[in-house]
Amino acid sequence: MKQEKSLRLKSGHPMPVLGLGTWMLSGKRCEEIVRKALELGYTHIDTAEFYDNEEEIGRAIDGFERSELFITSKVWRTNLRLKDTITACEKTLKRLGTSYVDLYLIHWPNDGIPIAETMKAMKELADRGMVRSVGISNFDTGRTMEAIEASEIPVNVNQVEFHPHLYQKELLEFCKKNGVILTAYCPLARGDVLTDRTITEIAERCGKTPAQVSLKWLVQHGAVVIPKSSSAEHLRDNMGIFGWQLSEGDMRRIDSIGIHKRKVNPFFTRIPLFRNVLDKLR
Ligand SMILES: NC(=O)c1ccc[n+]([C@@H]2O[C@H](COP(=O)([O-])OP(=O)(O)OC[C@H]3O[C@@H](n4cnc5c(N)ncnc54)[C@H](OP(=O)(O)O)[C@@H]3O)[C@@H](O)[C@H]2O)c1
Repeated sequence: MKQEKSLRLKSGHPMPVLGLGTWMLSGKRCEEIVRKALELGYTHIDTAEFYDNEEEIGRAIDGFERSELFITSKVWRTNLRLKDTITACEKTLKRLGTSYVDLYLIHWPNDGIPIAETMKAMKELADRGMVRSVGISNFDTGRTMEAIEASEIPVNVNQVEFHPHLYQKELLEFCKKNGVILTAYCPLARGDVLTDRTITEIAERCGKTPAQVSLKWLVQHGAVVIPKSSSAEHLRDNMGIFGWQLSEGDMRRIDSIGIHKRKVNPFFTRIPLFRNVLDKLR
Protein backbone atom coordinates (compact mmCIF):
# COMPACT_ATOMS: atom_id res chain seq x y z
CA MET A 1 0.00 0.00 0.00
CA LYS A 2 1.36 3.43 -0.96
CA GLN A 3 1.78 5.87 1.93
CA GLU A 4 0.44 9.29 0.97
CA LYS A 5 2.75 12.18 1.84
CA SER A 6 -0.14 14.42 2.83
CA LEU A 7 -3.60 14.09 4.36
CA ARG A 8 -6.66 16.13 3.48
CA LEU A 9 -8.00 18.27 6.33
CA LYS A 10 -11.72 18.90 6.83
CA SER A 11 -11.09 22.47 5.68
CA GLY A 12 -10.09 21.02 2.30
CA HIS A 13 -6.40 21.92 2.61
CA PRO A 14 -3.68 19.23 2.42
CA MET A 15 -1.40 18.71 5.43
CA PRO A 16 2.03 17.04 5.02
CA VAL A 17 2.30 13.85 7.08
CA LEU A 18 5.88 14.65 8.13
CA GLY A 19 6.81 17.93 9.74
CA LEU A 20 9.72 19.34 11.71
CA GLY A 21 9.11 20.02 15.41
CA THR A 22 10.95 23.07 16.74
CA TRP A 23 10.33 23.13 20.48
CA MET A 24 13.60 24.05 22.21
CA LEU A 25 15.26 25.09 18.97
CA SER A 26 16.17 28.75 19.05
CA GLY A 27 18.60 31.36 17.81
CA LYS A 28 20.98 30.84 14.90
CA ARG A 29 20.81 27.03 15.33
CA CYS A 30 17.04 27.07 14.83
CA GLU A 31 17.31 29.20 11.72
CA GLU A 32 20.02 26.94 10.27
CA ILE A 33 18.24 23.66 10.99
CA VAL A 34 14.88 24.88 9.64
CA ARG A 35 16.58 26.11 6.46
CA LYS A 36 18.44 22.80 6.16
CA ALA A 37 15.17 20.88 6.56
CA LEU A 38 13.53 22.94 3.82
CA GLU A 39 16.50 22.37 1.52
CA LEU A 40 16.20 18.62 2.14
CA GLY A 41 12.54 18.69 1.15
CA TYR A 42 10.59 19.24 4.39
CA THR A 43 7.60 21.49 3.77
CA HIS A 44 5.91 21.41 7.19
CA ILE A 45 7.23 23.30 10.23
CA ASP A 46 5.64 23.22 13.69
CA THR A 47 6.09 26.19 16.02
CA ALA A 48 4.17 28.14 18.68
CA GLU A 49 4.23 31.58 20.25
CA PHE A 50 5.42 29.79 23.41
CA TYR A 51 8.55 28.41 21.66
CA ASP A 52 9.92 31.91 21.20
CA ASN A 53 11.47 31.00 17.83
CA GLU A 54 8.98 32.38 15.29
CA GLU A 55 11.35 35.15 14.18
CA GLU A 56 14.10 32.62 13.48
CA ILE A 57 11.65 30.47 11.53
CA GLY A 58 10.51 33.56 9.63
CA ARG A 59 14.09 34.20 8.57
CA ALA A 60 14.59 30.52 7.62
CA ILE A 61 11.50 30.34 5.38
CA ASP A 62 12.33 33.61 3.65
CA GLY A 63 13.30 32.75 0.06
CA PHE A 64 11.22 29.55 -0.10
CA GLU A 65 7.93 29.49 -2.02
CA ARG A 66 5.34 30.25 0.69
CA SER A 67 2.52 28.39 -1.08
CA GLU A 68 4.55 25.16 -0.90
CA LEU A 69 5.04 25.40 2.88
CA PHE A 70 2.75 24.32 5.70
CA ILE A 71 3.36 26.37 8.85
CA THR A 72 1.63 25.54 12.12
CA SER A 73 1.63 27.87 15.10
CA LYS A 74 -0.23 27.87 18.40
CA VAL A 75 -1.84 30.38 20.72
CA TRP A 76 -0.83 30.02 24.37
CA ARG A 77 -3.49 29.07 26.94
CA THR A 78 -3.51 32.46 28.67
CA ASN A 79 -4.37 34.22 25.36
CA LEU A 80 -7.67 32.46 24.67
CA ARG A 81 -10.03 35.45 25.11
CA LEU A 82 -11.38 36.61 21.74
CA LYS A 83 -9.30 39.78 21.51
CA ASP A 84 -6.18 38.13 22.92
CA THR A 85 -6.31 35.29 20.38
CA ILE A 86 -6.59 37.76 17.50
CA THR A 87 -3.69 39.82 18.85
CA ALA A 88 -1.56 36.71 19.47
CA CYS A 89 -2.09 35.59 15.88
CA GLU A 90 -1.27 39.05 14.51
CA LYS A 91 2.01 38.99 16.46
CA THR A 92 2.81 35.44 15.27
CA LEU A 93 2.29 36.45 11.63
CA LYS A 94 4.49 39.51 12.09
CA ARG A 95 7.29 37.42 13.64
CA LEU A 96 7.02 34.76 10.94
CA GLY A 97 6.91 37.40 8.22
CA THR A 98 3.91 35.79 6.54
CA SER A 99 0.33 36.87 5.93
CA TYR A 100 -1.18 33.55 7.07
CA VAL A 101 -0.43 30.32 8.91
CA ASP A 102 -1.67 27.04 7.46
CA LEU A 103 -2.79 25.75 10.83
CA TYR A 104 -3.46 27.62 14.07
CA LEU A 105 -3.93 25.58 17.24
CA ILE A 106 -5.07 26.24 20.80
CA HIS A 107 -1.87 25.06 22.51
CA TRP A 108 -3.47 23.83 25.77
CA PRO A 109 -7.05 23.98 27.04
CA ASN A 110 -7.93 26.61 29.64
CA ASP A 111 -11.09 25.76 31.58
CA GLY A 112 -11.31 29.36 32.82
CA ILE A 113 -12.16 30.66 29.34
CA PRO A 114 -15.23 29.38 27.42
CA ILE A 115 -14.10 27.35 24.41
CA ALA A 116 -16.89 28.99 22.34
CA GLU A 117 -15.18 32.37 22.77
CA THR A 118 -11.84 31.05 21.48
CA MET A 119 -13.45 29.18 18.60
CA LYS A 120 -15.22 32.43 17.63
CA ALA A 121 -11.81 34.10 17.49
CA MET A 122 -10.49 31.22 15.39
CA LYS A 123 -13.35 31.69 12.93
CA GLU A 124 -12.65 35.40 12.73
CA LEU A 125 -8.99 34.65 11.95
CA ALA A 126 -10.05 32.20 9.24
CA ASP A 127 -12.57 34.72 7.81
CA ARG A 128 -9.84 37.36 7.67
CA GLY A 129 -7.52 34.94 5.83
CA MET A 130 -4.94 34.94 8.62
CA VAL A 131 -5.26 31.18 9.18
CA ARG A 132 -6.14 28.47 6.65
CA SER A 133 -7.24 25.79 9.13
CA VAL A 134 -7.76 25.70 12.89
CA GLY A 135 -7.37 23.06 15.55
CA ILE A 136 -6.56 22.18 19.12
CA SER A 137 -3.73 20.62 21.08
CA ASN A 138 -3.64 18.59 24.28
CA PHE A 139 -7.42 18.13 24.24
CA ASP A 140 -8.87 14.88 25.60
CA THR A 141 -11.97 13.31 24.01
CA GLY A 142 -14.45 15.33 26.11
CA ARG A 143 -12.80 18.67 25.40
CA THR A 144 -12.38 17.80 21.72
CA MET A 145 -16.13 17.20 21.45
CA GLU A 146 -16.81 20.50 23.25
CA ALA A 147 -14.54 22.32 20.78
CA ILE A 148 -16.25 20.67 17.79
CA GLU A 149 -19.70 21.55 19.12
CA ALA A 150 -18.70 25.14 19.93
CA SER A 151 -17.11 25.84 16.56
CA GLU A 152 -18.79 27.09 13.39
CA ILE A 153 -15.77 25.98 11.34
CA PRO A 154 -14.14 22.53 11.28
CA VAL A 155 -11.75 21.55 14.06
CA ASN A 156 -9.17 19.96 11.80
CA VAL A 157 -6.40 18.71 14.06
CA ASN A 158 -5.72 17.65 17.63
CA GLN A 159 -1.98 17.71 18.36
CA VAL A 160 -1.22 15.44 21.32
CA GLU A 161 1.61 13.44 22.81
CA PHE A 162 1.55 10.07 21.05
CA HIS A 163 4.32 7.50 20.53
CA PRO A 164 4.94 3.76 21.07
CA HIS A 165 5.30 4.44 24.82
CA LEU A 166 1.99 6.35 24.91
CA TYR A 167 -0.49 4.60 22.62
CA GLN A 168 -3.67 6.65 23.07
CA LYS A 169 -5.92 4.26 21.16
CA GLU A 170 -9.25 5.63 22.38
CA LEU A 171 -8.34 9.24 21.55
CA LEU A 172 -7.05 8.22 18.11
CA GLU A 173 -10.27 6.35 17.31
CA PHE A 174 -12.38 9.23 18.61
CA CYS A 175 -10.47 11.72 16.41
CA LYS A 176 -10.82 9.48 13.35
CA LYS A 177 -14.56 9.08 13.93
CA ASN A 178 -14.96 12.85 14.09
CA GLY A 179 -12.76 13.71 11.10
CA VAL A 180 -10.03 15.25 13.25
CA ILE A 181 -6.43 14.48 12.19
CA LEU A 182 -4.23 13.50 15.12
CA THR A 183 -0.76 15.03 15.05
CA ALA A 184 1.65 13.05 17.21
CA TYR A 185 4.01 15.26 19.19
CA CYS A 186 7.12 13.81 20.88
CA PRO A 187 6.77 11.01 18.29
CA LEU A 188 10.10 9.57 19.43
CA ALA A 189 9.23 10.04 23.13
CA ARG A 190 12.12 12.50 23.15
CA GLY A 191 14.46 9.62 22.33
CA ASP A 192 13.10 6.98 24.74
CA VAL A 193 11.61 4.72 22.06
CA LEU A 194 14.91 4.49 20.18
CA THR A 195 16.24 1.89 22.62
CA ASP A 196 12.97 0.01 23.12
CA ARG A 197 13.59 -3.73 22.55
CA THR A 198 10.51 -4.29 20.37
CA ILE A 199 11.33 -1.27 18.20
CA THR A 200 15.03 -2.08 17.81
CA GLU A 201 14.28 -5.72 16.95
CA ILE A 202 11.76 -4.71 14.23
CA ALA A 203 14.16 -2.03 12.93
CA GLU A 204 17.01 -4.49 12.60
CA ARG A 205 14.84 -7.09 10.84
CA CYS A 206 13.39 -4.51 8.41
CA GLY A 207 16.69 -2.75 7.73
CA LYS A 208 15.32 0.53 9.11
CA THR A 209 16.34 2.75 12.02
CA PRO A 210 14.38 2.74 15.31
CA ALA A 211 13.29 6.34 14.58
CA GLN A 212 11.88 5.29 11.20
CA VAL A 213 10.01 2.35 12.74
CA SER A 214 8.45 4.55 15.45
CA LEU A 215 7.43 7.25 12.99
CA LYS A 216 6.12 4.66 10.52
CA TRP A 217 3.95 3.06 13.21
CA LEU A 218 2.35 6.45 13.85
CA VAL A 219 1.86 7.29 10.18
CA GLN A 220 0.36 3.85 9.48
CA HIS A 221 -2.11 4.59 12.28
CA GLY A 222 -3.17 7.69 10.31
CA ALA A 223 -1.26 10.26 12.37
CA VAL A 224 0.86 13.21 11.28
CA VAL A 225 4.36 13.22 12.86
CA ILE A 226 6.53 16.19 13.82
CA PRO A 227 9.87 14.85 15.12
CA LYS A 228 12.31 17.51 16.27
CA SER A 229 15.87 17.18 15.14
CA SER A 230 18.91 19.39 15.35
CA SER A 231 21.12 17.39 13.00
CA ALA A 232 21.05 16.98 9.24
CA GLU A 233 21.62 13.24 9.67
CA HIS A 234 18.49 12.83 11.80
CA LEU A 235 16.48 15.09 9.48
CA ARG A 236 17.36 12.78 6.57
CA ASP A 237 16.71 9.66 8.64
CA ASN A 238 13.23 10.86 9.56
CA MET A 239 12.36 11.41 5.91
CA GLY A 240 12.82 7.67 5.29
CA ILE A 241 9.30 6.69 6.28
CA PHE A 242 7.77 6.51 2.81
CA GLY A 243 7.75 3.70 0.25
CA TRP A 244 7.58 0.77 2.68
CA GLN A 245 5.15 -0.68 5.21
CA LEU A 246 5.25 -2.29 8.65
CA SER A 247 3.51 -5.67 8.59
CA GLU A 248 0.21 -6.07 10.48
CA GLY A 249 2.08 -8.29 12.94
CA ASP A 250 4.72 -5.65 13.66
CA MET A 251 2.01 -2.96 14.01
CA ARG A 252 0.23 -5.10 16.63
CA ARG A 253 3.51 -5.84 18.45
CA ILE A 254 4.19 -2.10 18.82
CA ASP A 255 0.54 -1.51 19.82
CA SER A 256 1.10 -4.01 22.63
CA ILE A 257 4.34 -2.62 24.10
CA GLY A 258 2.22 -1.62 27.09
CA ILE A 259 4.26 1.33 28.38
CA HIS A 260 2.20 4.47 29.08
CA LYS A 261 4.71 7.15 29.93
CA ARG A 262 4.06 10.84 29.31
CA LYS A 263 7.06 13.04 28.52
CA VAL A 264 5.13 16.32 28.69
CA ASN A 265 3.27 16.97 31.91
CA PRO A 266 3.24 20.70 32.76
CA PHE A 267 2.35 21.88 36.26
CA PHE A 268 -1.03 23.33 35.22
CA THR A 269 -2.28 19.87 34.21
CA ARG A 270 -1.10 18.21 37.42
CA ILE A 271 -2.84 20.29 40.10
CA PRO A 272 -6.49 20.65 39.03
CA LEU A 273 -7.52 22.83 41.98
CA PHE A 274 -4.59 25.17 41.47
CA ARG A 275 -5.28 25.14 37.73
CA ASN A 276 -8.88 26.28 38.22
CA VAL A 277 -7.85 29.14 40.51
CA LEU A 278 -5.05 30.13 38.14
CA ASP A 279 -7.34 30.01 35.10
CA LYS A 280 -9.94 32.22 36.81
CA LEU A 281 -7.33 34.82 37.74
CA ARG A 282 -6.31 35.19 34.09
N1 LIG B 1 1.58 20.78 21.39
C1 LIG B 1 2.38 20.58 22.41
O1 LIG B 1 2.02 20.82 23.58
C2 LIG B 1 3.73 20.02 22.17
C3 LIG B 1 4.48 19.51 23.25
C4 LIG B 1 5.74 18.96 22.97
C5 LIG B 1 6.22 18.94 21.67
N2 LIG B 1 5.48 19.48 20.64
C6 LIG B 1 5.99 19.51 19.24
O2 LIG B 1 6.45 18.21 18.90
C7 LIG B 1 7.80 18.29 18.45
C8 LIG B 1 8.55 17.00 18.70
O3 LIG B 1 8.61 16.67 20.07
P1 LIG B 1 9.97 16.72 20.92
O4 LIG B 1 10.89 17.69 20.28
O5 LIG B 1 9.61 17.01 22.31
O6 LIG B 1 10.49 15.23 20.90
P2 LIG B 1 10.80 14.10 19.79
O7 LIG B 1 10.62 14.64 18.44
O8 LIG B 1 10.04 12.89 20.21
O9 LIG B 1 12.32 13.78 20.06
C9 LIG B 1 13.35 14.67 19.78
C10 LIG B 1 14.65 13.98 20.15
O10 LIG B 1 14.86 12.86 19.26
C11 LIG B 1 16.12 12.98 18.63
N3 LIG B 1 16.01 12.50 17.25
C12 LIG B 1 15.28 13.03 16.24
N4 LIG B 1 15.38 12.26 15.13
C13 LIG B 1 16.22 11.25 15.44
C14 LIG B 1 16.72 10.15 14.71
N5 LIG B 1 16.38 9.95 13.45
N6 LIG B 1 17.58 9.29 15.35
C15 LIG B 1 17.92 9.49 16.64
N7 LIG B 1 17.47 10.51 17.38
C16 LIG B 1 16.62 11.39 16.79
C17 LIG B 1 16.48 14.44 18.68
O11 LIG B 1 17.88 14.57 18.69
P3 LIG B 1 18.64 15.65 17.77
O12 LIG B 1 18.07 16.99 18.10
O13 LIG B 1 20.06 15.46 18.16
O14 LIG B 1 18.39 15.26 16.34
C18 LIG B 1 15.85 14.88 20.00
O15 LIG B 1 16.72 14.60 21.08
C19 LIG B 1 8.34 19.50 19.23
O16 LIG B 1 9.57 19.97 18.73
C20 LIG B 1 7.18 20.45 19.07
O17 LIG B 1 7.19 21.05 17.78
C21 LIG B 1 4.23 19.99 20.88
